[in-house]
Amino acid sequence: MKKVVLAYSGGLDTSCAIKWLEDKGYDSIAYCADVGQGDDFELIKKRALSTGASKVYVLDLKKEFVEDYVFPAIKASAVYENKYFLATALSRPLIAKHQVLIAKQEKANAIAHGCTGKGNDQVRFEVTARLMAPKLEIIAPVRIWEFKTRDQEIDYAKAKKIPIDVTKKSPYSIDLNVYGRSIECGVLEDPWNEPPENIFKLTKNPLKASNIPTYVEIEFNKGVPVKVDGKAYQPVTIIEKLNQIAGDNAVGRVDMVENRLVGIKSREIYENPAGTVIHAAKHELDCLVLDRETMSHKQGLSQKYAQLTYNGLWDTPLKKELDAYFNKVNERVTGVVRLKLHKGNCMVVGRKSKFSRYKEELATYGDKDVFDQKLADGFIQLWGMPYGSG
Ligand code: ARG
Repeated sequence: MKKVVLAYSGGLDTSCAIKWLEDKGYDSIAYCADVGQGDDFELIKKRALSTGASKVYVLDLKKEFVEDYVFPAIKASAVYENKYFLATALSRPLIAKHQVLIAKQEKANAIAHGCTGKGNDQVRFEVTARLMAPKLEIIAPVRIWEFKTRDQEIDYAKAKKIPIDVTKKSPYSIDLNVYGRSIECGVLEDPWNEPPENIFKLTKNPLKASNIPTYVEIEFNKGVPVKVDGKAYQPVTIIEKLNQIAGDNAVGRVDMVENRLVGIKSREIYENPAGTVIHAAKHELDCLVLDRETMSHKQGLSQKYAQLTYNGLWDTPLKKELDAYFNKVNERVTGVVRLKLHKGNCMVVGRKSKFSRYKEELATYGDKDVFDQKLADGFIQLWGMPYGSG
């Protein structure tokens, strides 16, 4: 039999995939990437083995995910279509990278994933894998298998005695990792429907959140968060901590219709409490320490960075070049931002930095003013000169 490394979630699709691949002559090595989805990996491991996988890998990728994927995206202020902090998109190239590494180690003939043919994730997995191992076969069972409906798939699972409780399936498709949660399908497919309150897990209902605002201070070092309220945390822990604080205050919900790479629009709900407060705080710090030209120039590159990430082009030259650019820009993005979180609102109420370009003696209207207002006249005459008709 040929060997395939299957990205395995423990759900119906990837469990059926083990059997389906077996029918096609492949022995599956199941691979579970722990990016903070809080799954019971012992249970999943058992399920993979009893479904027919010959071996299971469970890799804890949380640290690498936050340090090498989430943090660079934060430095780049990468937000897709101004709303999506890319939690799912960022995890895919990392998961694919380790899948290929396992395939190489196991001398496997192929890798397989459970993505559909309509989404972005298939692109992210496969582009990453192709760039690392151009000759490795990639199999996407869900795109090509014969099951047209979920019921047919369930019948197959029953016939093959796959140990999975198919009755508990939620109407939603959910992706969760340490940086955020994405929810789609079910009633959400009509963009006019308000998201039901019970889909949210990381953020409190604003009506039930505390009436008293929470103040939180986030300290940044070179563009990434390092302390919360004066206390230092490791990257994964700081994200978890901020998810907790912001989520408790109902901060971090996003409802959007987005443009998928494959050409369709889709409606997705996101919960990204930590991302929301970090991006808000980082932006304010940027405003304080960066000069005007850098501030405006980097905006377009942030958008480009988000598009590359979203569109599966993480491991490409331009993305790496942009990392170098943003590392340079962030050399001065060190300081503290104070936020006030209250019933879904995230307000920046204070910022300070040893690299601040804000000069109170120039800005003040008080008696410490050193701005020479007489200079304004000549400046304005020259500024408008190119456009005169006389
Ligand atoms: N739309 C998001 C993206 O393309 C999330 C995809 C996965 N969403 C989900 N609910 N399973 O990155």
